Amino acid sequence: MAVIVIAGRKGGIGKSTIAGNLAAEFAAMGQTVAALDADPQHSLAAWAKQGDGMLSQCVEKLDRGSPSELHAKVRAAQKTADIVLVDTPPGIQEVAYQAMLVADLVLLPCGPSPLDLFPLKEALGLALKARAERRSKKPRIRFVPSKVLKNTNLGRGLSSSLEQLGKKVLPGIGQRIAVAEAVVSGLTVREYAPGSAAHAEFEQLAKAVDKIVRR
Ligand SMILES: Nc1ncnc2c1ncn2[C@@H]1O[C@H](COP(=O)(O)OP(=O)(O)OP(=O)(O)O)[C@@H](O)[C@H]1O
Ligand SMILES: [Mg+2]
Repeated sequence: MAVIVIAGRKGGIGKSTIAGNLAAEFAAMGQTVAALDADPQHSLAAWAKQGDGMLSQCVEKLDRGSPSELHAKVRAAQKTADIVLVDTPPGIQEVAYQAMLVADLVLLPCGPSPLDLFPLKEALGLALKARAERRSKKPRIRFVPSKVLKNTNLGRGLSSSLEQLGKKVLPGIGQRIAVAEAVVSGLTVREYAPGSAAHAEFEQLAKAVDKIVRR
């Protein structure tokens, strides 16, 4: 019954993509999954609606509401799901902060550009603030390299730049066409391109996340 929040101030960095594909990987591990779309843009819900894949079974659209309504939705999802993923909006981070207050783990995706690191530091600050407010070790916080172009200097440098921020870095997700194509079909990468390099990356990421939330 772990709550995993995917957050970040930067738009388009792969938050929803990671949320949706982790949902598929956890389901494949035999876990019951709820994927809550707390972004008013509702990209995760739109992706799910594109097809009749696994996301159409597990994505729930959350309307903009008060913090207590968001917390109640997460708690309700926890009653029926082993894994609750919460996708949050970019920009103003109030929704993300509220979700962090009930999260076990916060995933902060980050792209390879130095410009991606500034908003990431803000998101990290917010997650640390949530932890301080809770007077707890939770949420745990991890970085996820996202949309990384492999075999480029920027890609290679990202993990070490992230490590310098003091939080562990999980296996990253490359910039891959199958990831974008899967969305067009309303499918996750696991469904669209099983056995592909893109799928292997999401599988590896999910295994690492699973280890953390089982602790
Ligand atoms: N690893 C990847 N490889 C290729 N394309 C990707 C990858 N990750 C995300 N994309 C594409 O990048 C775009 C933005 O991704 P996504 O919507 O997941 O980002 P986001 O951080 O949730 O955006 P927002 O901040 O607007 O919510 C989408 O078109 C998506 O298909
Ligand atoms: Mg999104």
